[in-house]
Amino acid sequence: MVKRKIKKHKYKEIREKIKTYIPGFDKLFSHGIPKGSSVLIEGGPGVGKTIFCLQIAWEAIKRGKKVLYMSFEEPEKHLISHMKSFGWNPDTYIKKGSLIIRRFNALDVSRSVEALLSEAKKELLIEIQPVFFPENFNPDIVLIDSLTSIASAFTGEEARFRIYMEQLFRYLEKTDTTSFLIREVANPTHVGVTSYVERGEAISFLSDGIIVLYNVIYNNGMRESAIEVLKMRGEKIYRKIVKMDITNKGLKVYPNKVLRGIHRRNYYLT
Ligand SMILES: Nc1ncnc2c1ncn2[C@@H]1O[C@H](COP(=O)(O)OP(=O)(O)OP(=O)(O)O)[C@@H](O)[C@H]1O
Ligand SMILES: [Mg+2]
Repeated sequence: MVKRKIKKHKYKEIREKIKTYIPGFDKLFSHGIPKGSSVLIEGGPGVGKTIFCLQIAWEAIKRGKKVLYMSFEEPEKHLISHMKSFGWNPDTYIKKGSLIIRRFNALDVSRSVEALLSEAKKELLIEIQPVFFPENFNPDIVLIDSLTSIASAFTGEEARFRIYMEQLFRYLEKTDTTSFLIREVANPTHVGVTSYVERGEAISFLSDGIIVLYNVIYNNGMRESAIEVLKMRGEKIYRKIVKMDITNKGLKVYPNKVLRGIHRRNYYLT
């Protein structure tokens, strides 16, 4: 009997990885962000979360991608003017239809979810497009600014917020859309603040990745911005907190400048 050699399958299914093109930032990954991931952008107030997302949007539309920016905070015209202040002019892409920047009212979302649930008569997941996603627009990238604002409209209705989140993440997964979802976090836990109990944990494990932006204060009164990729499913990441700057051309990340003095006694985070 002839023994047949069974060749081992050499090829694993390789997921496409995408780049953000934010200077220096992509060096924090071996290849990039797996396409179709849902990535949380976390950080304190004013740390640069919106700019980070606007820059991702700009770099993507320039490269022919379709982008949806859903704002629950700032109005469209402010976001467009922020972009222009960094030298990014989104007008032609908006006109062409490859970029949609739209502002929504978080209370409308919570009301619609409530209405949908009462229609369904039971609090089950509803397999439909999450409320307020524009129809007939299939974006490559969705940015949501912010989950915190949406959550605030569900105060006292946390179970419903969770249902909406599950519906949203499931939809993004099904459509293979890469998404960046901003979440305001007062005190990130993992750099020494032991008393902090993380809220909204459900969102953390629904997400495939977490990027954290820091506003560090040193003892001498100096402030520095920093960034870290905390988690990225399906990708090797460089586990370090590195310096970041907001310049007049947008965010710039210094992958080789690991933050000094990351020790509980000589810094704190806002
Ligand atoms: N041209 C610029 N050069 C340097 N820094 C800038 C420039 N434009 C804005 N900034 C800084 O960016 C910060 C605001 O960034 P951004 O709006 O992205 O923060 P955020 O994290 O989204 O804040 P919020 O929590 O309020 O939504 C401000 O603190 C501002 O000082
Ligand atoms: Mg913002």
